[in-house]
Amino acid sequence: MKRLDKYLVEMSVASRSAIKEMARKGRITVNGMVVKASDTKIDENIDIVAVDGQIIAYLHREYFMLNKPAGVITATEDKHAHTVLDLLKERVRNDLFPVGRLDKDTEGLLLITNDGDLAHRLLAPKKHVDKVYFAIIKGIVTDEHIHVFASGMKLLDGTEVMPGVLEILEVNEEEDTSRIRLTIHEGKFHQVKRMFEAVGTQVTYLKRLSMGPLVLDDTLVPGEYRRLTDEEVAMLKAATK
Ligand code: URA
Repeated sequence: MKRLDKYLVEMSVASRSAIKEMARKGRITVNGMVVKASDTKIDENIDIVAVDGQIIAYLHREYFMLNKPAGVITATEDKHAHTVLDLLKERVRNDLFPVGRLDKDTEGLLLITNDGDLAHRLLAPKKHVDKVYFAIIKGIVTDEHIHVFASGMKLLDGTEVMPGVLEILEVNEEEDTSRIRLTIHEGKFHQVKRMFEAVGTQVTYLKRLSMGPLVLDDTLVPGEYRRLTDEEVAMLKAATK
């Protein structure tokens, strides 16, 4: 059971005070009957709620994958900068949040949902959910770095990180750049950038490719998003059980 106003706020219809006013004016019906008190308790699984004759279905959970573009921040709201939530035009719920954080200049896979349990499990340090990144590095990445990363290393400030799997995709000696893929099992602040700094190189481009079993859909250009499929949601849940 849920209050009618809460139901409609969650479905992003309007603010609680606006809904109170709409109800008072007789614009809201439950199972076809006008309900004038917006604090009326309804059953969100059974009752049919409509505003101005339009049915507002209840959606418990929403799951989106966003290909986060550079330049937007991983937050729900911000006075100055665009946030990842601003990009999600087709969401229904008003309580979505990004799972974990990508830096402002990082691109790639970001899960956005209102499923707090799943988010908690994906981010729990003990679960060690794999995150895979693609990066362009200023500097030459060598086999030596692969070994350093694989052995569990110390960052410049002394923070210890768990072993990561570094793969060298391409090295360009003339430009002094390297392209790599890195798999890590935790998510410390600026972790990828700090790991490369610790070996005297610098990340100039960073993109997350996957998080656990969830892989960025490569048809999504930066800024685009789509809902997860039921299979993707089930895989994420199974991977974090
Ligand atoms: N590591 C970083 O340094 N930045 C990110 O955005 C994600 C991982």
